[in-house]
Amino acid sequence: MPGSTVSGALNRAVHHYRRTPLVARLFVHGRAFLSDLAFVERYVPRHGFIVDLGCGHGLFANVLAEASASRRVLGIDVDERKIGIARATVQGRPELRFEVSDAIATPPPRCDAVTIVDVLYLLPFEAQERVLRNAAAALLEGRPLIVKAQERALSPRFALTYAQELVTVGLGFTRGGRSRFFFPTREDALAMFERAGFAVDVVEMRRRPYTDVVYLARRKP
Ligand SMILES: C[S@@+](CC[C@H](N)C(=O)[O-])C[C@H]1O[C@@H](n2cnc3c(N)ncnc32)[C@H](O)[C@@H]1O
Repeated sequence: MPGSTVSGALNRAVHHYRRTPLVARLFVHGRAFLSDLAFVERYVPRHGFIVDLGCGHGLFANVLAEASASRRVLGIDVDERKIGIARATVQGRPELRFEVSDAIATPPPRCDAVTIVDVLYLLPFEAQERVLRNAAAALLEGRPLIVKAQERALSPRFALTYAQELVTVGLGFTRGGRSRFFFPTREDALAMFERAGFAVDVVEMRRRPYTDVVYLARRKP
């Protein structure tokens, strides 16, 4: 899909927040500007039922729905307040919905693909693996799990990644209920995906100054 169409989807997604409270709107604009969600969207199947775990205010779920009319999208988050805002963006689109649920405790429904964007670092490593196992339970063999995450590394990029999350959580935009973050090394992340039942490739997001990567995982037999 041409890049212009993907960024068009991002613009349309942001537009759905025009009547939400100012703080949420500012946050969503910040995410749209800083997170390169259009880059991640390209790896998501264009058809079928997609579940976005830890959807927050629902921006990426909105991008998925706007970028392809053949997708049905369910966004799931543990934060009722954010789901309230996400629901306010639906505005009569039956292909998009949002639910409150804990991705650690409850597997998502059977679906064609699962996405997880900037969520795992908030969870202890055992909980991250539980979320991945839950995603595996929802997917048939060969179906994809697309995860945007950040890797621990000895580098200025990682220092910046950590500092930015400290600011975001400190401002109250992200509530993981934890006082620290859990960034795995690449080696540990790949081992975790394998144990959870996935074969995985890594795409580095080098355009960004952080240690962001996209894990392209496929459910193993
Ligand atoms: C940094 S935000 C990212 C939100 C969204 N994916 C995005 O890209 O804008 C992390 C989100 O993970 C959610 N979260 C944390 N723990 C969760 C859990 N156990 N189950 C579901 N969502 C969770 C938080 O409530 C928060 O909305």
